[in-house]
Amino acid sequence: MPEADQTDAPLLEVRKVSKRFPGVRALHEVNLHLGRGEVLAVIGENGAGKSTLMKILAGVQEPDDGGIYVDGVLARLDSVEAAMDHGISLIHQELNLADNLDVGANIFLGREPLKRGFIDRAKIRIEAARYLSMVGLDVSPDTIVGELTIGHQQMVEIAKALSVDSRVLIMDEPTSSLSTKETQSLFKVVKDLRSEGMSVIYISHRLGEVKELADRVTVLRDGENAGELARDGVSHDAMVKMMVGRDISQFYSRTQHKPGEVMLEVEGLRTPVHPAHPLSFQVRAGEIVGMAGLVGAGRTEMLQTLFGVTPALEGRIRVAGREVTPREPVDAIELGMMLAPEDRKQQGLVLGMSVRDNLSLASLYRDSSRGFLNRTREGEISAEMIAKMRVKTPNEHQIVQFLSGGNQQKVVLGKWLAMEPKVLLLDEPTRGIDVGAKQEIYRLMEELAGRGVAILFVSSEMEEVMGMSDRTLVMHEGRITGELRRDELSEESIMRLATGSNHN
Ligand SMILES: Nc1ncnc2c1ncn2[C@@H]1O[C@H](COP(=O)(O)OP(=O)(O)OP(=O)(O)O)[C@@H](O)[C@H]1O
Ligand SMILES: [Mg+2]
Repeated sequence: MPEADQTDAPLLEVRKVSKRFPGVRALHEVNLHLGRGEVLAVIGENGAGKSTLMKILAGVQEPDDGGIYVDGVLARLDSVEAAMDHGISLIHQELNLADNLDVGANIFLGREPLKRGFIDRAKIRIEAARYLSMVGLDVSPDTIVGELTIGHQQMVEIAKALSVDSRVLIMDEPTSSLSTKETQSLFKVVKDLRSEGMSVIYISHRLGEVKELADRVTVLRDGENAGELARDGVSHDAMVKMMVGRDISQFYSRTQHKPGEVMLEVEGLRTPVHPAHPLSFQVRAGEIVGMAGLVGAGRTEMLQTLFGVTPALEGRIRVAGREVTPREPVDAIELGMMLAPEDRKQQGLVLGMSVRDNLSLASLYRDSSRGFLNRTREGEISAEMIAKMRVKTPNEHQIVQFLSGGNQQKVVLGKWLAMEPKVLLLDEPTRGIDVGAKQEIYRLMEELAGRGVAILFVSSEMEEVMGMSDRTLVMHEGRITGELRRDELSEESIMRLATGSNHN
């Protein structure tokens, strides 16, 4: 075994790692190195190979070729435990918690502290509370994880990773479902950890975050190294160019359409989550209405009630003039109202089915409800959507589970776009989506609005809300605290309403 040079060798080094899946070259001779106390950002388009590389570092998958060196010594990372023994832990892109267990149990899952042979619940509670406060999450360790918002679940994952003594913390899109405030507290945690000598690999499609956090940026494109940027050279344009190999300008291009008739009318809608606050608003044909607010403001619950996932307690919903009380999604779908949900894993996709079947599921329902099931049409829809959304897949028969996170999201959206909705509800439509594809989705929203579709979209990305909406509704703790016209939109005006500072 070669002598380790403790001072010169990087903490972690990836040398010529390759990985193939059937029909896919996920990584090809990729190199990467990470120093002590360094925050390295890894960026690239959807399907570039980021998550695959991270899974290899964390012992979830093994490379076909190449080696990983820790402190200059070849490391065998053939299991998650082996990687943890080397001090490497990964926070997955798709959350990985046990929904039915409480927060404390999740943090210490498989490593429960014992007292006289029994699990020491008191200790779990105390220790868990300590890690929760490190990530700034104000929930009790006794809370059942399934009852938390995705944003809060993400924070639990981070607390869990902190509780394992890690030297390398890998975060695969940790902020994609966090609010601005939660993101800020996460950044603080990352910066604190860095100053204590922790090394961090940070993956994000939000280039502003990368700019703020990263000491260095490594770019992957189609499974290969595409280049590297030192801290001084990190700019939005430089990153985009390296990722997609072209300039992307004109990010948000909005044409204001003359709003048509009211397509969605909501009156006195009370949801089970915030029963005290009846909601009323309208969206017209050709309008794109943004729904801003902090994570937990009740926006997702509102959309799910409109769509019949969790039926309303009271209130009136009219879609294109027809009154509906959605008890289940088909009731909404029948009138032409579709929801592309935030949680694609649970509600948006059948992971074990092919891209084609997922894309045509919803439209099949529409076609068969007219009395036929059209295989040819199914093929056309799927080919069209794969092309339109630029879904990276070897072919339409690939099982959705094997697509990268962002490409799964594109399939969810494509499925509903294929339905030709009258009212389209989008919950965080670009979560986890790369810059190029984001622009594509904005273009599609614009195109649909131009054809008279009424679009209501929830987004926690301030920039996106400001860039895309004709009108913005802001929610705070279950109520609509205000409405802003396009010319009234600013970060301050949104934040004031989102934090409820003009209510008490
Ligand atoms: N288990 C698997 N089986 C088959 N193909 C896979 C598997 N895991 C990943 N892939 C493919 O490998 C490629 C790289 O995927 P990866 O998840 O690493 O991308 P990514 O850079 O993380 O993308 P995103 O930004 O969308 O998360 C993709 O084409 C993906 O479909
Ligand atoms: Mg990924």
